[in-house]
Amino acid sequence: MLSPKHARGATFLFVACCVPILLLSVFFLYPRRTPPIAISDPENKEYDAVQAKKTSTSTSTSSKPTSSPKPTAASLSTEHATQITSPAPTSTFEITYPLPEDDNTEGFLSAALGNPETRPVEADWSFDTARDGGDYGLSDSQCDAAFPQLYTELHRAVAYTHTGGNITVDDVDISWKEGGVVRAMIYNRELYIIEAKYNEGSLDIIRAFALLGSIHRAITAFDGPIPNIEFTFSVEDIANLEDPGKWPLWALARPHDKEEQWVMPDFGFWAWDTTLVGSYEQVRQGIAQQEPSILEKKPQAIWRGANLAQFNPIRQDLLDHTRDKEWADVHEVVWEKEHNEQSNQFIKIVDHCDYLFLIQTEGISYSGRLKYLLNCHSVSVIHKREWVENYHHLLVAEGPHQNYVQVERDFSDLSEKIETLLDDPLQVELIANNSVATFRDRYLTPAAQACYWRRLFWAWRSVSFEPQLFKKVEIPDPASGTTKTKAEWRGEPYQTYVMAAVRDLAIPPQPKKRCGWISKALRLC
Ligand SMILES: *[C@@H]1O[C@H](CO)[C@@H](O)[C@H](O)[C@H]1NC(C)=O
Ligand SMILES: *[C@@H]1O[C@H](CO)[C@@H](O)[C@H](O)[C@H]1NC(C)=O
Repeated sequence: MLSPKHARGATFLFVACCVPILLLSVFFLYPRRTPPIAISDPENKEYDAVQAKKTSTSTSTSSKPTSSPKPTAASLSTEHATQITSPAPTSTFEITYPLPEDDNTEGFLSAALGNPETRPVEADWSFDTARDGGDYGLSDSQCDAAFPQLYTELHRAVAYTHTGGNITVDDVDISWKEGGVVRAMIYNRELYIIEAKYNEGSLDIIRAFALLGSIHRAITAFDGPIPNIEFTFSVEDIANLEDPGKWPLWALARPHDKEEQWVMPDFGFWAWDTTLVGSYEQVRQGIAQQEPSILEKKPQAIWRGANLAQFNPIRQDLLDHTRDKEWADVHEVVWEKEHNEQSNQFIKIVDHCDYLFLIQTEGISYSGRLKYLLNCHSVSVIHKREWVENYHHLLVAEGPHQNYVQVERDFSDLSEKIETLLDDPLQVELIANNSVATFRDRYLTPAAQACYWRRLFWAWRSVSFEPQLFKKVEIPDPASGTTKTKAEWRGEPYQTYVMAAVRDLAIPPQPKKRCGWISKALRLC
């Protein structure tokens, strides 16, 4: 272990030497390449600030665009760098025994991996946040009892699928998609990666690993049955940018009208790998540790983020409607300042809880920051939304159960609403209390999100097919002059998939050397 001092020293050294070198090499190696746009969720993240900077330099003559072009597949595909196919599944493990006669591959493993009974729920059991909130393995009946309203998005997706017929193998195909996508399978409680495509230079793979980790955790923490399923998930902010057709992708969020998409928990429920955020549990622990009481909070509305005016005017609208207001602490994150920790623009996600009002904005698409804000005992202020995450149906805008404040998309009524609330501390506390009860202490607990994942598996299984663990391949047998049928794994296990990625980091794959005749003669290669 490094001492904190050494660790700080090392971090400083890394930032001081490596980051500029990395940035310079990227700059010189890819002088005309625009970073991929579709990947960015817009809050407090360095790469977003970079993106914001690039887009703002290209629109620097007008501070506010007259229209907000939606990114289209065509416009963004040019922004996407060349796609690379993931390192996996590179290895196929040949097994030498033949497939069973009936081609039913289930028999291979099921004998050894019988599913145990689900734990019975005790009559007097009820969800206790402190005890159960971090339990990734609640039983099905505990999940039902604790989170009765969690599964709305899944019921909707199942109902929608019924209108068009079951999901087929063709529906989980990803040949149409350039990047930001993973085709995977759960089989006998093991997770397999069948195919993955990541946009070069993007954070796709990091998000994919976060989601695979979440899926794996939801399986391994649970001692009840898990269905065999095959599915495709997109890690991009806009799940199906390349093809607006109806693909039943698992998505981080969906626009209201993309009813064929299945919303999964955000990758941030695993972690967000920046010092501004951290792992989800770390954020929750951090808030529990340091959040001031509601009476001690700054009576202000806070927001930090990239402007993204080229895609969506609402953030510029927010800046316009909060300029010079005493109750507002709203700043656009600017790249040059953000990496300077002294700057007032740099605010850790847990420090947002120091404020009474927390403003949430969509950006290029949804914004993954809301789940963190809802972990504060504060009042979240959200404009009318176009995007749906898996818990959004629990937001209540009015009445005795009001748990956030809704404003217009252009923030025109923000000032009025904040000023009214500043005169009504009881109402502020009521909304904050409701928010904490619904979100922090129930539906946004890690336990709830693990329940959601497992229910997603079952919901998907109810309208899809039983996947095949193996595929048949014909192997020529020179000895007999015939071919033999062998079974090949269709996917790479999650375990070796992770190890392969780490191995590539430790020992980067060497480019193949050209072997000219001189080298050959000298036996150099
Ligand atoms: C908010 O919750 C606290 C703690 O449970 C309680 O003491 C307080 O009365 C509640 N405030 C309102 C306005 O409901
Ligand atoms: C849809 O899939 C489910 C689960 O595999 C199956 O039970 C059902 O019969 C299928 N329905 C149709 C119409 O094929």
